[in-house]
Amino acid sequence: MLFTKDQQEKIKNLETPFYYYDMGLLERTLNSAKAAADKRGFHVHYALKANFNDRVLDMIQSKGFGADCVSGNEVQKSIDKGFAPEMITFAGVGKSDKEIIAALKHQIFAFNVESIQEMEVINELAGQLGVVAQVSLRINPNVDAHTHHYITTGLDENKFGVPTSELEIAASVIRQAQHVELIGLHFHIGSQITDMNVFKSLCVKVNEWKNWFEERGTAIKVLNVGGGLGVDYQHPDENSMPDFEAYFDIFDKFLERTAQQEVHFELGRALVAQCGSLISKVLYTKSGIKKNFLILDAGMTELMRPALYQAYHKIEHVAKEVTTTINYDVVGPICESSDCFGKEVPLPESQRGDLIAIRTAGAYGEVMASSYNLRDEIRYVYSDKL
Ligand code: LLP
Repeated sequence: MLFTKDQQEKIKNLETPFYYYDMGLLERTLNSAKAAADKRGFHVHYALKANFNDRVLDMIQSKGFGADCVSGNEVQKSIDKGFAPEMITFAGVGKSDKEIIAALKHQIFAFNVESIQEMEVINELAGQLGVVAQVSLRINPNVDAHTHHYITTGLDENKFGVPTSELEIAASVIRQAQHVELIGLHFHIGSQITDMNVFKSLCVKVNEWKNWFEERGTAIKVLNVGGGLGVDYQHPDENSMPDFEAYFDIFDKFLERTAQQEVHFELGRALVAQCGSLISKVLYTKSGIKKNFLILDAGMTELMRPALYQAYHKIEHVAKEVTTTINYDVVGPICESSDCFGKEVPLPESQRGDLIAIRTAGAYGEVMASSYNLRDEIRYVYSDKL
């Protein structure tokens, strides 16, 4: 059960839907990831895109993680939250001039550059400001992440990174650029990766391209292998967290590097997914000709993943133990048939007013909420306030 009896009583009086964050689980997850990374001398930048809720970010910052940002506003948010500029990276295929200039002024650690044209723009803008920008070149390694095709990013057909066929030109542009300094190589092949062999294949590619640059006389200080570590959506509980030891071990074993070369990661989902749940009330129960529906007050506007990727999230009744069950299609109030959290979900018989928890919603949940249908702004509750 997600909540104690006491907490259940308190929640009954709260306005729903809301995101619930288990701050204890977040802290344990962060401690586990940080310890496993520190042990191997690895640096972890937290990918803000997964969740930039204020208290979640405060805790992540307080544990000594860096920040991986994909917009000017994320860079600004990290700075406002106290992340040191030298621990902030800025990635993304479409950085605007305004965003690049702001990040240059903040003297962030590095831009993860995704095209030759972008490299030229950063060089020019850095020149105008009289600074040198540190950059990592994002290479598209053509490694299949074996995950949902919408969250696969490292294949030839994906828009991300510089294709390996263009590296020769990229290297010569970098050599001539006066206002950029290449400090590293960057890779990110996808998200929700649960097959650890995928990361082994990534290491092989990283080694290959690092050697390629070194053979051409370019020193590489930083190997940034991105994020992507998956979580267990089937079995959320208060102890659920990824096996960070096993994950970092792969890179420790298979990445070739000297003692001076730093290894950087950009973890998002793995750090925050399990600590968040979307709590919602049953508005109506309805028996159709073929289906039993539970109509919730939360919809795809609060948690988009099921509608967008047919993503599975475990759905639980907050108060009733599962003994005898009815299969429900659990749907939201939005005027779209894709506004469905799960089909034929076995749940205890439920009534109007019952509370339902949609689990493992801490990553890419609140941040992807929209105001479609002019919905209310998203609410959230932290475990230490219950
Ligand atoms: N680095 C880069 C360059 C990325 O594009 C991403 C995620 C990350 C790091 C963090 O990846 P993570 O450790 O969280 O897997 N909205 C989708 C996920 C999109 C991921 C986008 N990039 C979802 O709900 O599954």
